[in-house]
Amino acid sequence: MNPDFERDGYLVVKNFIPRDSADMLCSLTLKAVADGVAKPGQGIGGEHPLTWNINSFSAFDPLLTLLTPKMNEILDLDLVPTYYYQRTYLKGGAMSHHTDRPSCQRSITMNLGYSHQWPIYIVNRETGKYTEFQAEPGDALLYMGCSQEHYRDPFEGDWYSQIFLHWVEREGEIGPPHTGHMCKDYHWDNGGSPADYRKYYGDSWKKILHQKGIMERKQSVANYSMDEHQAGKNYK
Ligand SMILES: [Fe+2]
Repeated sequence: MNPDFERDGYLVVKNFIPRDSADMLCSLTLKAVADGVAKPGQGIGGEHPLTWNINSFSAFDPLLTLLTPKMNEILDLDLVPTYYYQRTYLKGGAMSHHTDRPSCQRSITMNLGYSHQWPIYIVNRETGKYTEFQAEPGDALLYMGCSQEHYRDPFEGDWYSQIFLHWVEREGEIGPPHTGHMCKDYHWDNGGSPADYRKYYGDSWKKILHQKGIMERKQSVANYSMDEHQAGKNYK
């Protein structure tokens, strides 16, 4: 395990993803609110009422698998994804002192964009004292969610978009206070796994493509020239 991460219980990684990617993802979080995909917080499970929350959004689903190799490299671990969550905080939104559930053994909290800065505080594993972290879009805090308490004071800006990505160690064990489970019990615990996706196209591709008439577009095939010179004329 990365020695700094092991000592402190967290690791700050600036520009974990490129700023351009963070901007694009941030824009999608607003689109999710507009489209009714993001849901207002219920005041339970860490969902402050002044937040909009996403736990399943197709544009975000590949992020866990895309970022797993990078997490493994930085932390020198063998991680398996569990789930992700995106939350847009509004003025007055907050995050109480807490540790996370067992699915969050090795986690990222990453900023995607904001109207005003807003620090997160996390307990240092070695010193037992809280450390402040102020993120720019694309910056990430890698942390041990199950053991290191973290919180945010009430937000005084207009909006703040954050994404949480969670993994467990492939053969790890969840320690106190969440004893009794091997980490592997939590692999992909909220669904949306690669296997679910494979099942979708495995079961459905024929129905979908016939339904849309794609497989029956013989007219288009007749108009397509396999002659390279002729085909090239279509691209002016
Ligand atoms: Fe948390």
